[in-house]
Amino acid sequence: DASALARAESLIGSIADYPEPGVVFRDITPLLADAEALRATIDALLEPFAGQFDVVAGIEARGFLLAGAAAVAAGVGLVPIRKAGKLPRPAASVSYALEYGTAEIEMHDDIASGTRVLLLDDVLATGGTLEAGRALVARLGGEVTGTAVLLEIDALGGRAVLGGDVHTVFHA
Ligand code: PRP
Ligand code: HPA
Repeated sequence: DASALARAESLIGSIADYPEPGVVFRDITPLLADAEALRATIDALLEPFAGQFDVVAGIEARGFLLAGAAAVAAGVGLVPIRKAGKLPRPAASVSYALEYGTAEIEMHDDIASGTRVLLLDDVLATGGTLEAGRALVARLGGEVTGTAVLLEIDALGGRAVLGGDVHTVFHA
């Protein structure tokens, strides 16, 4: 409900100069540690997508925290999207730009063609990670029917990179 969500938002911390000077890091771990806040947040994350997905996909590492909870709450399974080199049966990989350099993510082909996927992560910053996640699911024949994050950092412009098509519970 609204008051639980408001309290959940108040539990998101701001850590100055982490991981490097000049960056204000948004820390969702106090929210995750609170049962009522976690429940309200997962409900809000899933709310627009009822009946529209067959599986959730979470992006390593912090996306996993939300995907596990969301999958159980929604009664669906979960597919991990991992940083390259961590999965035993990688079926596809996609590289993407980070602030410095590049990263690569991989997935198993454990989704049948046409599977409707709800793509989840903790934070939307520049949007590169979720854009790569979408490409990865598509390459394996899945259909991304929703993209959702707990927290969007508005000033970093990730929403535009995702074509405006992302559901956000909280903004910073
Ligand atoms: C963070 C965050 C998102 C991504 C957002 O992950 O958890 O996945 O960055 O940034 P973007 O919108 O600019 O792509 P990170 O790559 O730090 O990995 P971690 O979850 O393993 O810490
Ligand atoms: N917090 C958490 N994850 C992030 C952030 C942040 O401020 N920026 C990019 N990924």
